Amino acid sequence: MSEWVHVAELKELQRRRKKLVTAGDRPIALFLVDGEVYAIDDTCVHRERSLSKGTLLDGQVICPGHQWRFDPRTGHPEDQEGCLATYAVQVSEDGHVLVDPAPVSPRRETTPEAAAAAPAPNPAAR
Ligand code: FES
Repeated sequence: MSEWVHVAELKELQRRRKKLVTAGDRPIALFLVDGEVYAIDDTCVHRERSLSKGTLLDGQVICPGHQWRFDPRTGHPEDQEGCLATYAVQVSEDGHVLVDPAPVSPRRETTPEAAAAAPAPNPAAR
């Protein structure tokens, strides 16, 4: 059963195109891409950096840790293992953004080999 949580206003996303919110104790990153709002885990599957601090470029979210590129529609990283959970989003007629904290697609952690292959994150990028 859906439990919609009001987390943001559409006009905030129209300004910044991304926002960190909390729904059901989960940190969730919202992104506005081509007029649609998408919700994915905020915590990167690689080394747990915050994706809401990343960059949105050409419809992809670039993690500030090691620049893995994630599709906010699916939670999948490009050319990497693992997957971020995705969440259902509703936008009301008056611009309220609601998220269901029960994942639509599950989180899948990356392999230890993939996690070990990247250098340590740049602390200045936190
Ligand atoms: S922490 Fe996200 S790519 Fe490394």
